[in-house]
Amino acid sequence: MLSKPMQDALNNQVKLEASSSQAYLAMASWSEIQPGLDGVAEFFFLQSEEERIHMLKLMRFINERGGFAIVPTLEQPIVTYKGIKSMFEEFLQHELLVSNSINDLVELALSERDYATHNFLQWYVSEQIEEEKSARVLNDKLELIGDDKSGLYLFDRDIMSRRQGGGKK
Ligand code: FEO
Repeated sequence: MLSKPMQDALNNQVKLEASSSQAYLAMASWSEIQPGLDGVAEFFFLQSEEERIHMLKLMRFINERGGFAIVPTLEQPIVTYKGIKSMFEEFLQHELLVSNSINDLVELALSERDYATHNFLQWYVSEQIEEEKSARVLNDKLELIGDDKSGLYLFDRDIMSRRQGGGKK
């Protein structure tokens, strides 16, 4: 059985994952209308779906453990970007925010000696290592590319292989 503070904290995480899904959906839509960013758009459409899965997994866990998962109200995410670089910076910042939030949850689970939730959260801890790494690598690549258009062409072409190769990314 979840404690009330743990249930509330997990429901906050549901909201954060749902917000992530919306934020990445907006990134996908913005990318899709830019010339030559088809690969980036596809990447964020899939990323958005993945965040929804993260949200659902949490909701199912909360209900399974005797709590009540709340479907959250969401604010509109950022829908336009100055450019691809600022969008990917936002992507990284968002993932860092999610990682911090997961770490807080782990800390709460340990302080409550809620080992079931602690165990459940380990999947998210591993997931965040991957997500942060992926966002950092993509930002580093964009930094290297700078204003080189052929570099950006290759970036867009190759971004999906980061998801498909070696599992997810
Ligand atoms: Fe589910 Fe990318 O955080």
